[in-house]
Amino acid sequence: MLVLRSYLLFLLFLSLPLLSLCSDSDLLLKKIKPALQGNATIENTQLSTWNLSTPLCQWRGLQWATATGSPLSCDSASTRSNLSLNSDTSIQLTSIQLPASGLQGYIPSDIGDFSSLQSIYLAVNSLHGSIPLELGNSPSLSEIDLGSNSFNGSLPPSIWNLCDQLVSVRLHGNRLSGSLPDPAGPNHTCDSLKVLDFGGNKLEGGFPLFITKFTGLQELDLSANRFTGSVPEALAEISYFFIGC
Ligand SMILES: *[C@@H]1O[C@H](CO)[C@@H](O)[C@H](O)[C@H]1NC(C)=O
Ligand SMILES: *[C@@H]1O[C@H](CO)[C@@H](O)[C@H](O)[C@H]1NC(C)=O
Ligand SMILES: *[C@@H]1O[C@H](CO)[C@@H](O)[C@H](O)[C@H]1NC(C)=O
Ligand SMILES: *[C@@H]1O[C@H](CO)[C@@H](O)[C@H](O)[C@H]1NC(C)=O
Ligand SMILES: *[C@@H]1O[C@H](CO)[C@@H](O)[C@H](O)[C@H]1NC(C)=O
Repeated sequence: MLVLRSYLLFLLFLSLPLLSLCSDSDLLLKKIKPALQGNATIENTQLSTWNLSTPLCQWRGLQWATATGSPLSCDSASTRSNLSLNSDTSIQLTSIQLPASGLQGYIPSDIGDFSSLQSIYLAVNSLHGSIPLELGNSPSLSEIDLGSNSFNGSLPPSIWNLCDQLVSVRLHGNRLSGSLPDPAGPNHTCDSLKVLDFGGNKLEGGFPLFITKFTGLQELDLSANRFTGSVPEALAEISYFFIGC
């Protein structure tokens, strides 16, 4: 009996990761919404639309994909009013877009749990705390804009896990400190990366040489930080480059 029970337990553990236990909408409601809301005493008007009596298509600042990966089109009236989509575990979150929305909380580690999340645009809010390490676990994330907030601490090295898929990383105007972490691999070229904006923080150390290997870079801003030393010539080819004060 005992043997059987532990066998069943074993099976249960084995199958856990294969089951989608929690829909993306569930994760948003239970983890992301309260974290972004933070301690603000008045409920954020955008976040308040994320609730079970509002059809998914009317939750503000979000984009979704269907089970096949194609964008969920919220144009038609029937989709816009479809409450059943809220509990459809095959619907996946692809984008969070709430710039300048008065957000006063933080980004929780659960942000790394969305399998299809491609972009996060949360610039010009009052978000604080650190940029979670788990961001680097997001298998689809390619565009990040967290500029003009109050994020502090250092940039998590896990960001370079996303190297092959990253297109733009904008973190201008926060309170990030420490030196920029090197990518773990020696030859990280982040080929699709076009925009890197770390300006207006408190970053320090020598010039981050690994950036010279990012061959697709078109826009680099490291201005208004505490970097020391000289800028390598290899960067001369970048079309927009700003490191001055
Ligand atoms: C937010 O609330 C937590 C606990 O409820 C508290 O520790 C923290 O200081 C608060 N932060 C702000 C900015 O008020
Ligand atoms: C749910 O969202 C609607 C807007 O879509 C809003 O009017 C309503 O107050 C929200 N309900 C709660 C409990 O926040
Ligand atoms: C509403 O969404 C459910 C769940 O995805 C789907 O099965 C159903 O066909 C949709 N209904 C309409 C009218 O679009
Ligand atoms: C980040 O800011 C919070 C206050 O918002 C502070 O408690 C914490 O020590 C800071 N962390 C770093 C690494 O500066
Ligand atoms: C890294 O690139 C250099 C020069 O391009 C090459 O010689 C080296 O073998 C590469 N290392 C790895 C681990 O791919």
